[in-house]
Amino acid sequence: EKLNKKQRLYDINKEAARYFYYQLKTQRGQKALEYFKKRQITIDVIKKFGLGYANYYGDDLYKYLKAKQYSEALLLEAGIIVKDKKNNYTDRFWNRVMFPIFDVHNRVIAFGGRVLGDGNPKYLNSPETTLFDKSNNLYALNIARTARKDHILIVEGYMDVISLHQAGYNQTVASLGTAFTSGQARLLKRYTDNVLIAYDNDEAGRKATLRSIPILKEAGLTVKVLNLNPYKDPDDFINNLGPKTFDQRIENAQNSFFFELEVLNQDYNVEDPDQKTQFIRKIASKIVEMTNDIEKDNYIEAVTKNYQINKEHFINLVNELGSKVG
Ligand code: GTP
Ligand code: MN
Ligand code: MN
Ligand code: MN
Ligand code: MN
Repeated sequence: EKLNKKQRLYDINKEAARYFYYQLKTQRGQKALEYFKKRQITIDVIKKFGLGYANYYGDDLYKYLKAKQYSEALLLEAGIIVKDKKNNYTDRFWNRVMFPIFDVHNRVIAFGGRVLGDGNPKYLNSPETTLFDKSNNLYALNIARTARKDHILIVEGYMDVISLHQAGYNQTVASLGTAFTSGQARLLKRYTDNVLIAYDNDEAGRKATLRSIPILKEAGLTVKVLNLNPYKDPDDFINNLGPKTFDQRIENAQNSFFFELEVLNQDYNVEDPDQKTQFIRKIASKIVEMTNDIEKDNYIEAVTKNYQINKEHFINLVNELGSKVG
């Protein structure tokens, strides 16, 4: 019975994805196609990602699926319909370009929908359901897991994933704006040992990068951070500078520890000896946390060179702080 219900929920999502896709061929769907075109997405990529359009009218999909004998209870549970103030059932997504979210077994488990242009919310996602556990899925991992690359690229958004895949970077996944979780990190570790973070080049993106680094490292992944300057996100970057320059950014991605230090460095004026001392103590305390002695040695070597710190004194400081921690 339970298994049967889960299968019905998968079926609903699949039917909905097909429905959204076919809307692109309708009169109203043309503006969705135009929107994709404006964002330089090709027809092939629309097909590959199963992109679509949710109708302007409020309950077309509901009626369509109801006619296929799916109950309201199940459609509600799938997150496809909602109950409005007057207790009428309506579709969840109105007048949006649609991005089906697949699990690693290529089953549709949820949707993201974007307004065509400006509007609030910019993206609307399916709620968490029996099928969709946000913290244990990554957008496009179903494709990225088969990419023959030595790393997986992590970006923020649907459009970043799609633009990068279109440019040949099929190793890209998105965490979809939510904070990266340990479940997602463990999921990635099944398919790769190395990740590259390419979050948005803004304050929110940098904060999200800082939060993700320890979570990814905890799962045993090697982490690097990609520089997108002067563009705001990977989609923007690739559309302006193209893959050759993006390849160079991958090549030159920064070690995550150095990225953390660089961000930290901005809080200190290292021209001031007292502040430099504080900054160095902070670095030492981060090195104390490392569990592997070789790793410790390598970072001590690198940071003392980088920030012109006396190595012997720095090692003393690390040992001193380490003995306090116990
Ligand atoms: P574009 O404007 O289409 O290029 O989107 P973007 O991906 O650059 O948007 P942004 O950097 O603002 O957000 C990154 C990701 O966070 C999106 O792809 C969504 O998954 C998610 N997100 C953004 N805005 C919203 C929102 O209003 N609501 C929800 N639930 N998620 C959002
Ligand atoms: Mn491995
Ligand atoms: Mn962003
Ligand atoms: Mn963005
Ligand atoms: Mn963007």
